[in-house]
Amino acid sequence: MSLLSSTPAWGALSSLAESFKTEHMRDLFAADPQRAEKYSTSACGIYLDYSKNRINEAVFSALADLAQQQNVSAKRDAMFNGDIINGTEQRAVLHTALRNFSGEPVYVDGEDVMPEVLATQEKMKQLVAKIHSGEHKGYTGKPVKDVVAIGIGGSFLGPKIMSEALKPYWFKGIKVHFVANVDGCHIADVLAERDHEETLILMSSKSFTTQETLQNTITAKEWFLGEGGTQQDIALHFMAVSSNIKAATEFGIAEENIFPMWDWVGGRYSLWSAIGLPIALALGYENYRQMLDGAYAMDVHFKTAPLEQNLPMIMGLLGVWYTNFFAAQSHVLLPYYHYMRGFPAYIQQLDMESNGKSVNSDNQNIDYATGPIIWGSEGTNGQHSFHQLIHQGQILIPADFMLPLNVAHNIGPHHAMLASNCFAQSQALMQGKTVAESAAELQGKGLSDEQVQALATHKAMTGNKPSNTLLFDQVDPHTLGALVALYEHKVFVQGAIWDINSFDQWGVELGKVMGTQILDKLEDKQAECKFDASTNDLVKRFRQAN
Ligand code: F6P
Repeated sequence: MSLLSSTPAWGALSSLAESFKTEHMRDLFAADPQRAEKYSTSACGIYLDYSKNRINEAVFSALADLAQQQNVSAKRDAMFNGDIINGTEQRAVLHTALRNFSGEPVYVDGEDVMPEVLATQEKMKQLVAKIHSGEHKGYTGKPVKDVVAIGIGGSFLGPKIMSEALKPYWFKGIKVHFVANVDGCHIADVLAERDHEETLILMSSKSFTTQETLQNTITAKEWFLGEGGTQQDIALHFMAVSSNIKAATEFGIAEENIFPMWDWVGGRYSLWSAIGLPIALALGYENYRQMLDGAYAMDVHFKTAPLEQNLPMIMGLLGVWYTNFFAAQSHVLLPYYHYMRGFPAYIQQLDMESNGKSVNSDNQNIDYATGPIIWGSEGTNGQHSFHQLIHQGQILIPADFMLPLNVAHNIGPHHAMLASNCFAQSQALMQGKTVAESAAELQGKGLSDEQVQALATHKAMTGNKPSNTLLFDQVDPHTLGALVALYEHKVFVQGAIWDINSFDQWGVELGKVMGTQILDKLEDKQAECKFDASTNDLVKRFRQAN
């Protein structure tokens, strides 16, 4: 089968890109007063303005042809239907089932998985109620005040970042703390301020084999016992979320304290499962459930909206346009909302662990770019840090701006200032400033011709830097759930177009194996090192220092 880069739709886009590279968005806006209206749409409380992109009707049509050629819609339906689309692990991909409260069944290997999904949600709801009401008490009869959620990757990022993003909805009286890194500083900091009698340790690991999470849980257990708890008290203070029930019980977690998850839920897609328990504990179950309902609404939109109104399709295709035809190697996320400062890091795992691949579904090494580097941070901070490069650097970095139109605080002019910066940045990136405009500005300030000559080119900006702007009334659980699902489906669209498996992650295995081999040499200082010269030297230096 020919590689994607040799297909008709790809060829058409390549030709278009060549002719389109000289088009400036300034001129596209000048030529069509309806441009903003034409290239904007909304769904599930999210308004998408994609008019500040280097597209016109011919480009958009060619991108739609590419989606058609790559059978994106059929692949989408296969995912929702529970087909085995994760070929290398022979698994279905059904994070969408986790938020399906429609009553419709979802079958995996001929069995409807919904009863177990809904039973787990009910188990979560009951635990949250018992913790929030104080009914669940520790071994000295005190209610839980602190939850220490231990996990890493998809077992940490979703719970932490979504809880943070929804701070205005936090349940008073319970504090949820997160530990991920195996660096002992992390868990030491968190446990140092805890009272073990009022603390619940919630360990989340889909595989129950992740070194960092297991070690952190062992340390937490030693802390608990060291503080005066006994083995019998563990059942009141330790709970787990995992698909590996056997390993979790062998580790010492009481079976009734284990919340199941399933192999057809990928780690980076798992916050809708019991992995999301820390979110439910932080916000209350009903708010957590609102997140799932928002994601479900986006699922329905993704399945039913025509392409030209389909937010995941539009954002996915635009990303392919820049990645493959403008050689954009990264994509920056700029949430103009302090509480969403972690959002880029969440999408980083979702996107890069899904689409950082180089082999297609026919086991062929591919010769075209796939997943971009995802990065970013909250506005306006980035404007005083990396925006310079986006405006005047040599590399094209498409941007997603995000802004809630309303926020929980009403302190002075802050929100209007935030919004004005958000809008100005995308305007400046699109419009730029010509050398002539720059020179006129300098002359207007009274600079000499020589000074103007020396400065004008430095102060000019090419503009024509693409961006999307996503607006929401507010960042509430329903909207945030829809936003996360939007990005999940955007990633899906791109993986489907690139003909890669977005749902395995073999690239993380080698480092883990080598890490274990090296750990043995760091712990046994007499053991002979037979690694490469660099690694042998690094091991030696660590041994000498410790
Ligand atoms: O190593 C990568 C990874 O498997 C991620 O995909 C996953 O989210 C994370 O590690 C944690 O895995 P687990 O939930 O099995 O501990």
